[in-house]
Amino acid sequence: MLKHKTILITGGGSGIGEALVANQSKDNKMIICGRNESKLHKVVTANKNVSYYVADISAPSQIDELFQKISADRIVLDVLINNAGVVEQWDITKTVLSSGWR
Ligand SMILES: NC(=O)c1ccc[n+]([C@@H]2O[C@H](COP(=O)([O-])OP(=O)(O)OC[C@H]3O[C@@H](n4cnc5c(N)ncnc54)[C@H](OP(=O)(O)O)[C@@H]3O)[C@@H](O)[C@H]2O)c1
Repeated sequence: MLKHKTILITGGGSGIGEALVANQSKDNKMIICGRNESKLHKVVTANKNVSYYVADISAPSQIDELFQKISADRIVLDVLINNAGVVEQWDITKTVLSSGWR
């Protein structure tokens, strides 16, 4: 269990990231980021010790901007949970390979 750490969670506005915030924000300072500000705002409102930055981590310039803002706000990170990502699901039995094999 982490205590008294400053933790950045990418994609903290929903799903696993939001659940981690709920789980860790009592004992730690949480920073979250994501693309949709209203989702981030909702998580900040529902939990203590949470702040957010709007950032799309698929854009290198926005990652630079994110860390510049964090630094300008004199936040020193202890932990990065790089959670934001995309899950793709497909039925492998229906996948047709270019060679025609199934
Ligand atoms: N749930 C599962 O069963 C499962 C299984 C294996 C792996 N994972 C991995 O676990 C992580 C979280 O999954 P989840 O189910 O919690 O997903 P989720 O509910 O879709 O949440 C993903 C979060 O990441 C944010 N996000 C997505 N792209 C982003 C980007 N380019 N920049 C910044 N934020 C971004 C989204 O917010 P915005 O849209 O507002 O940016 C959202 O808040 C993902 O990396 C996923 O691949 C999940």
